[in-house]
Amino acid sequence: MRSHYCGLLRDSNIGQDVDLFGWVHRRRDHGGVIFLDVRDHQGIIQVVFDPDTQESFKLADQVRNEYVLHITGKVRARDDEAVNPKMPTGELEVLGKELTILNAADTPPFQLDEYSSAGEDVRLRYRYLDLRRPEMQEKLRVRSQVVHEVRRFLDANDFVDMETPILTRATPEGARDYLVPSRTQPGNFFALPQSPQLFKQLLMMSGFDRYYQIARCFRDEDLRADRQPEFTQIDIETSFLGEQEIMDISEQLIRQLFQSTIDVDLGELPHISYACAMQRYGSDRPDLRFDLPLVDIADLLKDVEFKVFSGPANDAGSRVAALKLERGDRLSRRNIDDYTKYVSIYGARGLAYIRVNDLSKGMEGLQSPILKFLPDEVVSAILDRVDAKDNDIIFFGADRTSVVNDALGALRGKLAEDLDLYQRDWAACWVTDFPMFESTDDGGWTAIHHPFTAPSCDIESMEAGPGQALSRAYDIVINGHEVGGGSIRIHESAVQQAVFRVLKLSDNEAATKFGFLLDALKYGAPPHGGIAIGLDRLIMLLTGATAIRDVIAFPKTQTATCLLTDAPGSVDSDQLHELGILVKKPETE
Ligand code: AMO
Ligand code: AMP
Repeated sequence: MRSHYCGLLRDSNIGQDVDLFGWVHRRRDHGGVIFLDVRDHQGIIQVVFDPDTQESFKLADQVRNEYVLHITGKVRARDDEAVNPKMPTGELEVLGKELTILNAADTPPFQLDEYSSAGEDVRLRYRYLDLRRPEMQEKLRVRSQVVHEVRRFLDANDFVDMETPILTRATPEGARDYLVPSRTQPGNFFALPQSPQLFKQLLMMSGFDRYYQIARCFRDEDLRADRQPEFTQIDIETSFLGEQEIMDISEQLIRQLFQSTIDVDLGELPHISYACAMQRYGSDRPDLRFDLPLVDIADLLKDVEFKVFSGPANDAGSRVAALKLERGDRLSRRNIDDYTKYVSIYGARGLAYIRVNDLSKGMEGLQSPILKFLPDEVVSAILDRVDAKDNDIIFFGADRTSVVNDALGALRGKLAEDLDLYQRDWAACWVTDFPMFESTDDGGWTAIHHPFTAPSCDIESMEAGPGQALSRAYDIVINGHEVGGGSIRIHESAVQQAVFRVLKLSDNEAATKFGFLLDALKYGAPPHGGIAIGLDRLIMLLTGATAIRDVIAFPKTQTATCLLTDAPGSVDSDQLHELGILVKKPETE
């Protein structure tokens, strides 16, 4: 029987006989005495074996890293010079009496401590070893506590925890679907849910009033550091509440989680409109830990001869903006070249700049590759507009609006990161008043949130000018990460049909894909709305992880595979036959 956890032994245990179970974290041989650092999920204790206990000493001599042991012994204080103040158990050790090897272990493929420099592929392949590392244990335990607290909060607020199907129809959230072939209907497919969106709406129509689910979602999309093909949402839906009330409840939940988990008061979250976020920060998930705003200057450049600027300045779909960095003398020529390369990832064709060396010297005090293209009075007006001071550097973006926003928005974040421009550790906000639609390359429209989001205007004006229509959607953004998003939904059939018309979904298609929803809207659907908070992203922020993979026990790689189980894998021909599937093998070179 275990009497204590290794990591929880303290001074008060001195003199006690203990029974410990754990893994060998490290073994050291110190001239006739063997030290074993024994680890369990609570931490590490040093166990000493001396030759007086002959049997055990011999066994201790044989053990290697990651052997699983049962040890009995007596807790004692370490000698003064052996105290390790960095360890919670650093003043103690256990004098080992009996040792049983419960299991041997091959040499692990990487070192299981914080100094491990193993590549992520190896860590993912041997995930069960990676997860033994204390810092990985810590993150996943935080995750468990947060989920527990979320449930407590929502239960206390009368939300009903309900499950929704995993084998379902496509739920449009903008990504590709993962499909599952049906055996009983060969040729037909289920889709895994991109979110429980339609089911949670149907639960409101079923009269449940407040729903939540810690819901698994599946999206086949390009992966990034904060995206996984399979992830978890804290999914919420309510009836008869407006956007402010839904935002209030979610804000209360998020603030409580930050307070209890990392003792951070996020404060009341400011609301920023989508238009304002794009204009000032070039992004709909602005990082507000620092300011560094984009400043529009197109009006000053309409008549200059420099086509790079005057072209976009005279085009409605384009933008010319400036980004002023104080103390720009920190940047070398080389840095600027690197930033120019960096913005090119976002489609920028260049990164013009002006260095302000000495304002009192007029144009002589400036340094820039574009001065020769711009009249002095235009340059002065730009400097005034951004309130330039000596040693500032001003960057410029001139292109299609989306390119300028993406490029300067990303540059803003990159400069803050590289030069540590953060004024605070945490900054959260709500982004509101999103457009309903964005235009597609083929001249059509696509929903910015999902097509069940309610417009904030009437359907006539929405159909007359889809590009101008705003939606009743809101996102919660923390330190530049979109942590959650939701909206008030359409609860009237006519409005839903109008949105489908804008999306060029024929009546037939609408009936096939969403007939059940359109029907349900006809039988007394209450006004409703909700939100989904990305649990993995939230935990990533709360634990300071740099990759979403570090807060998921068994994540997928950037190419959406599981290195541990080697999934996805092939299946045998009988199984395929049963499903009516003929696989066309990709051509090999
Ligand atoms: P949305 O698509 O904005 O909304 O998703 C909500 C939140 O889920 C998280 N998230 C992800 N996390 C990890 N990996 C991914 N691939 C991924 N995709 C999304 C984000 C995001 O803010 N049904 C709507 C919600 C609603 O309207 O109530 C929805 O799914 O943190
Ligand atoms: P060019 O005349 O193309 O050599 O460009 C002169 C300067 O303008 C260089 O510093 C370029 O990096 C910069 N530049 C070129 N295109 C753009 C653009 N679309 N936006 C911002 N700067 C640009």
